[in-house]
Amino acid sequence: MTDPASQPIQRGSSERRPLIIGTNTKLHHTPTETANYLRELGEKGQDLLDAGAVRLFLCPPYTSLPAAVPAARETGLPVWIGAQNVDGHLNGAFTGEISAPMLVALGTDLVLLGHAERRNLFGETNESLAKKVVVALAGGLRVMLCVGEKADDREHGVGVETVRRQVKIALSGIPVDQLDRVMIAYEPVWAIGAAAAAGPDDVRPIIAEITSALDDRFGEVRPDVPVLYGGSVSVGSVATLLNELPDLDGFLLGRVGLTVDGLLGVVEAALEARGQLAPTA
Ligand code: PGA
Repeated sequence: MTDPASQPIQRGSSERRPLIIGTNTKLHHTPTETANYLRELGEKGQDLLDAGAVRLFLCPPYTSLPAAVPAARETGLPVWIGAQNVDGHLNGAFTGEISAPMLVALGTDLVLLGHAERRNLFGETNESLAKKVVVALAGGLRVMLCVGEKADDREHGVGVETVRRQVKIALSGIPVDQLDRVMIAYEPVWAIGAAAAAGPDDVRPIIAEITSALDDRFGEVRPDVPVLYGGSVSVGSVATLLNELPDLDGFLLGRVGLTVDGLLGVVEAALEARGQLAPTA
């Protein structure tokens, strides 16, 4: 079966791509716990996910990838397995790092790049991310580029400029024909690990800015790039965001996605908001 989420859609097309929803498990879940999570997803998720309206992804720690790839296939569900980071070099004297070819050799589908924790705790910059984007795409991975402004940027009214820089610099080294393997997750830093998600009025101008930055960099005749929201997403926040933001393509989950029930709760709420929840028999 061809995977509708994998087909490039040209910008401006009226075609609706499946929602893209998944979890970054951060520093949680051993290989066994990851495999069990996917097994449980396979058992509980079939009815909700049968219609092909949602594409899932799971980004576990590196050590769980070898267990996650076959476990995801066994679910029979459309689940991309992603890494949470990759090194910007193909090989060399970089102790402790993992390269894109190493991830590809494990069957990894995508890599999360530029998560706020990588930027703020591990010193990743837009420039270092640009190198990672190039090697990840050249190696055949999909890239989910995380962008988002800090509370301080927001207070000074420079949130949109911050995100524009993040997008344009991180994607500065790639040709337009690789853009169909790029997704962007907008995660305002002030909303990560917070009590509530950002509201539609916070997210709307940033989605517009991301679109404009992509047009600037790649031109308007380019593949459509899915834009997800992340940051304290809960079952309760999904409907408001989707109802008010027709250009939103999905969600990057943290805490709520650490359990299968949490992930599927978000999937169900999202399908309901989009009017795509299959009636129960
Ligand atoms: P959170 O994490 O949903 O727990 O805020 C989101 C993220 O860090 O991607």
